Amino acid sequence: MGRAFLLLLSVVSFVSGIFAGVPVRAESVLIYLEADDCQKCHVQEIRDIESRGGLHKTAVTCLDCHVEHPPRGTEAIPECTRCHEPEKNSHYTVGNCRGCHPAHRPRDIEFSGTSRVTPACASCHPHQGKQLEDYPSAHTLLDCTECHSRHGEFFRCQECHDPHTPDMVYEDCLGCHKPHMPSKVAYDNFVPSRFCAGCHPAETEQLAQSPTKHRDLLCVYCHKDQHKRIPQCVTCHRMPHNQAFHEKFPDCNACHGGPHALQK
Ligand code: HEC
Ligand code: HEC
Ligand code: HEC
Ligand code: HEC
Ligand code: HEC
Ligand code: HEC
Ligand code: HEC
Ligand code: HEC
Ligand code: HEC
Ligand code: HEC
Ligand code: HEC
Ligand code: HEC
Repeated sequence: MGRAFLLLLSVVSFVSGIFAGVPVRAESVLIYLEADDCQKCHVQEIRDIESRGGLHKTAVTCLDCHVEHPPRGTEAIPECTRCHEPEKNSHYTVGNCRGCHPAHRPRDIEFSGTSRVTPACASCHPHQGKQLEDYPSAHTLLDCTECHSRHGEFFRCQECHDPHTPDMVYEDCLGCHKPHMPSKVAYDNFVPSRFCAGCHPAETEQLAQSPTKHRDLLCVYCHKDQHKRIPQCVTCHRMPHNQAFHEKFPDCNACHGGPHALQK
């Protein structure tokens, strides 16, 4: 790259051990630096960019970012937003870019340099961020990285919680809870009744003892879709007896013993 620029380079007793060329004395010299020159003194940075630079290796050069060199000027280190303009992408408004992206290995994202990543994550994943906000739960208070310690990966629920019954696996948890709205329990029509049993032993026991066809139904056949939803007998059975009978005896359970301990 032929672009050269003017620098006042101060090399203070630094160089002698590092490159075997001409020793440079501890005084200021006015010189032109080119991209090829950097490697003479900055081995590590060159290596980083060479191996892990990504688009910072191919789309820009050292000199596009480092437009000045110490001790001259104030722009030896560039602001990321000089090129990644905040107006163009909400992600570029989050600040503390270098807390996650090492400048010379920008895809080697590391979260250890940041205290709270949620706003940065939500800048690209607004849906998950909004879900956590719209359904307040204990998870809303956690930083995204508590569960996503590396980008694209996640911890399974059991890393932090005991299952309700010993045989539950991770996929079962997702059958009732969504990670970003865990307290809204919703499920499909096939959840096995043994998963409810851990918390509702009485109803489970009663139903198992019932001699009627209710015994063959899944809990979720009657308690559909959402936890705590209670059905009415008449939703499924309409009015099975004649009208006068129902008017006289409005409470089905008085004769039938309730949905779980059902009697004919
Ligand atoms: C002759 C050796 C030498 C060459 C060639 C050289 N540098 Fe440096 N560079 C140094 C030294 C010494 C320092 C530390 C100066 C200081 O801290 O005041 C330094 C510091 C820097 C810094 C840190 C600035 C800061 O404020 O922390 C950057 C960035 C930098 N160099 C970039 C470059 C780039 C880009 C090139 C090639 C265009 C280059 N250097 C070429 C010796 C060199
Ligand atoms: C995309 C912009 C960008 C490019 C390209 C780039 N740098 Fe840097 N460089 C930075 C930033 C930002 C820092 C400050 C890093 C920090 O402190 O976290 C930095 C820091 C440095 C430093 C100071 C020591 C350090 O690691 O903090 C040196 C030396 C340096 N760069 C040399 C180079 C050389 C040589 C090249 C070309 C091979 C280069 N840089 C390419 C942005 C860039
Ligand atoms: C001199 C301009 C310039 C500066 C300063 C700069 N970048 Fe970039 N960066 C680019 C260009 C150009 C690309 C490739 C096109 C694009 O993604 O916009 C790029 C790409 C990236 C990528 C994607 C890398 C890949 O391989 O996919 C990341 C991440 C990134 N920059 C982060 C940063 C961060 C963080 C800083 C500050 C430490 C920074 N950039 C400073 C110009 C710059
Ligand atoms: C909390 C961590 C974090 C912070 C802070 C952060 N980023 Fe990122 N950045 C990421 C993650 C994660 C990705 C996605 C990487 C991927 O897709 O593999 C990313 C991707 C990028 C990309 C790649 C382009 C793209 O759209 O995929 C660029 C450029 C970028 N960030 C620039 C910046 C700039 C500029 C800042 C500061 C204004 C910044 N980042 C702050 C974590 C962060
Ligand atoms: C610059 C934009 C950007 C940032 C910032 C970003 N991501 Fe991503 N993320 C992406 C893209 C793009 C994908 C790939 C999407 C795909 O494959 O459907 C992705 C994928 C993911 C996935 C895996 C999705 C899947 O279906 O496998 C998770 C989990 C994730 N990101 C979490 C996070 C977390 C947590 C953060 C904050 C630390 C974050 N992301 C920051 C852009 C970003
Ligand atoms: C990194 C640890 C972590 C992971 C992974 C995790 N949780 Fe949590 N979760 C917590 C903490 C901390 C709390 C609050 C204290 C508690 O109830 O244990 C919590 C609370 C909950 C609550 C109660 C919510 C409330 O507001 O009362 C539910 C339900 C829950 N988690 C389900 C899950 C499910 C399902 C998964 C997997 C998709 C999961 N958790 C993954 C840490 C985690
Ligand atoms: C309590 C743990 C926990 C927290 C906190 C958490 N996530 Fe997740 N997230 C998960 C789990 C577990 C999955 C995987 C779900 C699956 O297997 O389908 C996931 C999946 C994702 C995905 C992939 C797409 C999807 O929705 O399944 C994205 C993107 C994502 N999370 C972003 C975020 C962001 C952004 C934050 C912070 C605002 C965040 N997560 C906070 C546990 C969590
Ligand atoms: C059959 C549905 C179902 C399955 C499967 C399920 N949960 Fe739950 N979970 C619930 C219900 C219902 C609650 C109680 C909600 C309430 O109190 O209103 C709950 C509550 C929780 C709580 C809050 C603390 C507590 O014990 O009350 C955590 C944590 C939790 N579940 C984690 C998990 C994990 C981890 C898994 C997978 C191993 C899992 N759940 C599987 C339905 C389920
Ligand atoms: C983690 C424990 C847990 C699991 C698993 C669980 N529940 Fe519950 N359930 C509760 C708690 C706690 C209550 C509230 C009890 C109260 O208010 O007295 C409750 C209440 C109910 C109620 C009554 C609501 C009301 O208004 O009285 C129904 C119906 C119910 N659960 C059905 C189910 C079904 C069906 C399953 C399996 C799909 C299930 N539960 C799984 C903990 C659980
Ligand atoms: C979600 C639908 C649903 C609800 C709600 C429901 N049932 Fe049933 N019930 C059934 C089904 C399905 C059968 C079996 C019918 C068959 O196989 O012919 C049944 C059978 C019965 C039988 C006959 C049992 C047998 O072994 O022949 C009685 C009596 C009965 N239900 C009463 C009730 C009463 C009383 C309630 C309210 C406390 C109720 N049901 C609520 C679906 C339901
Ligand atoms: C045939 C439909 C049906 C089935 C199957 C069923 N329930 Fe119910 N359940 C009801 C109805 C109807 C109520 C409303 C209470 C009433 O009418 O006495 C109820 C009430 C409840 C309640 C609230 C407390 C109570 O006893 O009133 C809980 C908890 C409950 N069911 C749990 C379960 C569990 C766990 C299962 C599976 C083991 C289950 N149910 C199976 C219909 C059913
Ligand atoms: C006064 C007592 C009484 C009341 C109240 C009552 N039933 Fe019955 N029900 C019976 C008797 C006894 C039978 C069995 C005789 C028969 O098959 O006609 C029966 C039969 C049934 C059957 C048919 C069982 C089969 O094998 O076909 C259903 C379904 C039923 N009842 C549902 C209900 C519902 C729903 C209600 C409330 C709306 C209700 N019953 C109210 C006494 C009652």
